[in-house]
Amino acid sequence: MQQIRSYPVPHGSVGLWWLGQNGFIFKTPEGTLVSTDLYLTNSCAELYSGIGISLDRQVPVLIPPEDLEVDVFCCTHNHVDHTDPVTIRHLRHKDTMQFVGPHPSCGVFAAEGVESGRIIPAWPDCEHEFREVRLHGTFALPTDDTDLNHMGFVLAFHKGPRVYITGDTDYSDLLASAAKHKPDVVITCINGGFNNLSHWEAAQLVGKIQPKAAIPCHYDMFADNGVDPAQFRASLTLQAPDVRYTQMTHGEPLLLSF
Ligand SMILES: [Fe+2]
Repeated sequence: MQQIRSYPVPHGSVGLWWLGQNGFIFKTPEGTLVSTDLYLTNSCAELYSGIGISLDRQVPVLIPPEDLEVDVFCCTHNHVDHTDPVTIRHLRHKDTMQFVGPHPSCGVFAAEGVESGRIIPAWPDCEHEFREVRLHGTFALPTDDTDLNHMGFVLAFHKGPRVYITGDTDYSDLLASAAKHKPDVVITCINGGFNNLSHWEAAQLVGKIQPKAAIPCHYDMFADNGVDPAQFRASLTLQAPDVRYTQMTHGEPLLLSF
């Protein structure tokens, strides 16, 4: 958290850190911090220990929930690796954060002690503004019937890049409707497991949206729900050759500027 706080972000850029799975923290030049889907515990392994697949986290917890300080805490849907009740329960600074997500995620925020005035419901095509950040909700197709309220986000940073984060989603032609926000970057799930976009489908979507860069995610956290991102790089080469493949390293900053 200290590294993120002290990292300088030049005007026209946004700083980005990956904490694993769909968990990212964005930092604006003005210092506003926005997170998506931070999964900072081993909740999935504990909750689903009897189902016979390995859900032990493979990425270390880089920021314990107690230390997390962001201005806006966003969730794309209500699966535990995206809206984790234990992560939210242990946020020591939740009295200073805004919490954004579809209604089932809002229910978790409330159940974990977030006061109602800090909870902001989101849905596909909604628009919210937080200081110099505009958030657009985007369409996502649920991957199973345990949560029928998936969505993604386009985060538009004032005078900086626009970033589309797909969230978990099955493939649908409607995903390309995020193109109307003209994202510079697409951050996409690629794992293919449990009805999520495969690396091939993710590259197909990127080809339709035509951002400048594409970043894969959601392949790294669980041994039994991963894929080699090199396969996404290859699919991108075939389906979106003009889009720059960008590989992130957990915990290391990436400066996005276009
Ligand atoms: Fe997920």
